[in-house]
Amino acid sequence: MNPLDFSRIKDEAHPEDFLSEMKPFGDLMMYYRCAMMEVETKFKVLNEQFSTQYNRNPIESIKTRLKKPASIIEKIKRKNIGFSMKAIEENMFDIAGVRVICSFQEDIYTMADLLLQQDDIILVEKKDYIAHPKDNGYRSLHLIVDVPIFLSNEKRHMKVEVQLRTIAMDFWASLEHKLRYKKHINNSEEIADKLKHVADVITEMDCEMQDIRHMIEFIDDNTES
Ligand code: GTP
Ligand code: MG
Repeated sequence: MNPLDFSRIKDEAHPEDFLSEMKPFGDLMMYYRCAMMEVETKFKVLNEQFSTQYNRNPIESIKTRLKKPASIIEKIKRKNIGFSMKAIEENMFDIAGVRVICSFQEDIYTMADLLLQQDDIILVEKKDYIAHPKDNGYRSLHLIVDVPIFLSNEKRHMKVEVQLRTIAMDFWASLEHKLRYKKHINNSEEIADKLKHVADVITEMDCEMQDIRHMIEFIDDNTES
């Protein structure tokens, strides 16, 4: 793809409008949308199989989101990525995002492994914020994967960011995200401590729910035989 001249962007009053009207940019966003659909379908297929074969749904819900032009521009500037399609594709891996909310913590790893085993998926990056939570208490498993999309005239490899978390982790991350935009949170130690405490409580709940599930499975196994 030809690099484009984005020099005008910096002077535009609303660069995101300018960007979204450009054909190559529109095409690039379409490729990311397709890649997002591919990954979402892969998880839906796995959930479907678990549902019929094992009578349970490891996935509670899946959310997808495409990064908005304004956020893309903000990140290009912040990270000093060049204003070209090539630079965007090669340096920004979170334009297409798929968030997978799992029932239990161990389902997160099962689903991630099953995705990564597929022979058209390449793992680009993995960040395990469950084994190594962030200082503020944030937990999730992050993957950047490379997935092929098949268009009428070509096959393209696109990057997709996958975030896997439990319902409890998602509850915490959603509220923390909302609160972060409120005044004072960034410099209040008391609030940061409270949020961290809630994150720990939630982790304990996740572990207990998983224990309960194991106990039930054990009873089931023993009554069946
Ligand atoms: P970026 O350039 O922002 O992508 O930095 P990064 O690649 O180091 O980010 P990372 O992979 O750690 O996290 C990316 C995404 O995870 C964010 O856009 C959020 O959706 C989510 N995330 C990471 N940290 C937090 C957090 O502390 N709180 C919440 N609510 N979400 C987080
Ligand atoms: Mg990132």
